[in-house]
Amino acid sequence: MRFPPDFLFGVATAAFQIEGATQADGRGESIWDRFARTPGNVHNGDTGDPACDHYHRWEQDLDLMQMLGVGAYRFSIAWPRILPGGTGAPNRKGIDFYRRLLEGLHARGIRPYATLYHWDLPQALQERGGWANRDSAAWFADYARLCFNELGDLVDDWITINEPWVVAILGYAHGTKAPGHTDWREALAAAHHLLLGHGLAVRALRDTSSAARVGITLDLTPAEPATPNPEDVAAAVREDGSKNRWFLDAVLRGRYPEDMVAWYERRLGPLDFERPGDLAVASAPCDFLGVNFYTRIRARASTGDGMLASAALPADGPVTGMRWAVAPDALRDVLLRIEREYGHRAILITENGAAYDDRPDGRGGVADPERLEYFRAHLEAVERAIRDGVDIRGYFAWSLLDNFEWENGYDKRFGIVFVDYETQERLPKQSALWYRDLIAKHAGG
Ligand code: FCB
Repeated sequence: MRFPPDFLFGVATAAFQIEGATQADGRGESIWDRFARTPGNVHNGDTGDPACDHYHRWEQDLDLMQMLGVGAYRFSIAWPRILPGGTGAPNRKGIDFYRRLLEGLHARGIRPYATLYHWDLPQALQERGGWANRDSAAWFADYARLCFNELGDLVDDWITINEPWVVAILGYAHGTKAPGHTDWREALAAAHHLLLGHGLAVRALRDTSSAARVGITLDLTPAEPATPNPEDVAAAVREDGSKNRWFLDAVLRGRYPEDMVAWYERRLGPLDFERPGDLAVASAPCDFLGVNFYTRIRARASTGDGMLASAALPADGPVTGMRWAVAPDALRDVLLRIEREYGHRAILITENGAAYDDRPDGRGGVADPERLEYFRAHLEAVERAIRDGVDIRGYFAWSLLDNFEWENGYDKRFGIVFVDYETQERLPKQSALWYRDLIAKHAGG
């Protein structure tokens, strides 16, 4: 594999998934603390403690990254550490934690990519309606501005929102993620406010700094019809519309896809959360588009009462530990599609990776050949997309560490480094060593 000389190889994590220390130093409660403590929501009753105790072990984790030779680290800032009540008085200790982390990255020559929102809304803001409340866009922009002011001297690259589809649809319609609501109207309003908040944050950044770069991260999941039947084809178009086009069109074209607006309005009534000018804000020009990619789905029309009248079929080939189809060709397709349908864009692969049920081999190693193969195949897909003209600037492996995988708790392991949650020992897996070698080879030209 050969990548452009300035191509960035990184690793990614998210605050709630690794930090632990959920009560330390004045951190406020987040919706994920509340959701995880509510029985029945998370596998095994797992919570955000201890996670990887990264809040206390961050130096060791930065050393690990240095050992791997990564050029960049994508992490997220926990809003409730910075603003325990969501708005109002900042928490100096929270801000200082991220300052130390950022200084540690710079000392090791690793470029930070800071995500402002990776799902841990302050619970105090959920009490006021969370993302379903239009005010959330302004709350987020204020929080973003605070981060730009307090951390901007140490961060050149910002990501506003991670995966608005997951936040809105899984959080407010399917209820499988915090805050666990099941109301499609709320979900679409939440999605809109996330996008508006993103746009307002971009504007705030442009006001504070001319040099910093910013983008949003979308999770893109290609949907293919399970059969050539027109009903199944239409179901796939709806899945794609709901999951991918709704967000791509909003941020890259400044409008929602008409077919999906019509579909939703037939079921939900007028989508009256949108006000004139909102999507002009949401589509403010960015410096890159972040793409998270894991899998593709096969859609089939379903007569059930699901909002999209479609059902995802089980994968027809190899799957990961999440039972997600391994589909590197779909990654290449989606990258080519952005170029073809949305024009030439700078793209960062902000997450890509796989869960498998790995165990230490007792001799200091962890063999994870399937994950290694997953990375190899997906990096090859990225490399081919670059050769086909897509402007991909970097790739972040998800994840540096095994971590709290949301409703799956600690059961699903995505790390390239194994974490023993009892002892907090870290053990690089075979895939980490492979990634290290790939990066070294690339650096050597
Ligand atoms: C993505 C999330 C990330 C992680 C991976 C597996 O949707 O952004 O936090 O959970 O999935």
